Amino acid sequence: SKKPVRVAVTGAAGQIGYALLFRIASGEMLGKDQPVILQLLEIPDERAQNALKGVIMELEDCAFPLLAGIEAHSNPEEAFKDTDYALLVGARPRGPGMERADLLAANAAIFTVQGKALNKVASRNVKVLVVGNPANTNAYIAMKSAPDLPAKNFTAMLRLDHNRAASQIAAKTGKAVGDIKSLTVWGNHSPTMYADYRFATINGESVKDMINDQVWNAEVFLPTVGKRGAAIIAARGLSSAASAANAAIDHMRDWALGSNGEWVTMGVPSNGEYGIPAGIVFGFPVTTENGEYKIVEGLEIDAFSQECINKTLAELQGEADGVKHLL
Ligand code: NAI
Repeated sequence: SKKPVRVAVTGAAGQIGYALLFRIASGEMLGKDQPVILQLLEIPDERAQNALKGVIMELEDCAFPLLAGIEAHSNPEEAFKDTDYALLVGARPRGPGMERADLLAANAAIFTVQGKALNKVASRNVKVLVVGNPANTNAYIAMKSAPDLPAKNFTAMLRLDHNRAASQIAAKTGKAVGDIKSLTVWGNHSPTMYADYRFATINGESVKDMINDQVWNAEVFLPTVGKRGAAIIAARGLSSAASAANAAIDHMRDWALGSNGEWVTMGVPSNGEYGIPAGIVFGFPVTTENGEYKIVEGLEIDAFSQECINKTLAELQGEADGVKHLL
């Protein structure tokens, strides 16, 4: 049987953690033949550490055959030791009266520390997925704080936006969500993201032609996908956790095991593709193979799309500027 791999998860006692860990341990992320060791990080706070103990008891009680070990940590340098995968879920949420700059600064503090810890102790091939918001900028901060690791190993989660877009298109067209191909979401994981179905197909047929309604695209589809997180908070009284955990599983599984030639959306540092400045962590269409992702290049960007991309890029550059002095 395969040698166990190490999977670090931060914010492990939180909502997303609770929806995520059991699926990683059951083999849904890295395959039903891949044993895993979970290295779980929570803040030192007694309540959080106790909650983490409870989650670990439940993990034990699932008796997952693939779960080769579980560790609880409060220090990132211990949690990230030799880790092959790091899912950075824990982040500082926006508190009452907190300004955007305060939020960025609080998260910059967390993600510089965690980036440095990864730089120091993680596997040199560690695959990092940042889920905690602001996800793209947190990934950017961690990447900048880990100069000895390949920048391309730092990614942010746009997959929930991608999956939300797919579900809206399935509902609109009456087709099966699993048949939608070549969909993507450009930019920031925020309401400015640009979900783009111009290249999407269902059983070889163009989704754009099928829908043929630019007003629906601009006035219904994009706002619905962009504000889906807020709609779920309004309905549930809590933020989306199970769907976020599901997207994290999808992102890591496809990165590790390959997308079989299909497009998926990942937030990844640009190398200048589509005029996005190098280093900015941006949602792009990618294909994945042998543990590597490749940005899909050469797509035509029309005037409407360019405008959308410019807007989400401007927001990301604003965030990068907002943390520059902290890096
Ligand atoms: P939560 O508040 O239930 O859990 C977060 C956990 O992280 C808490 O247990 C907290 O103690 C822990 N934590 C905070 N700072 C930490 C640190 N420095 N090290 C280790 N652990 C730390 O929140 P939830 O619902 O699990 O969401 C987590 C994050 O994911 C939030 O930032 C949320 O905005 C984000 N999110 C991102 C999505 C995306 O698509 N990229 C989608 C949904 C949520």
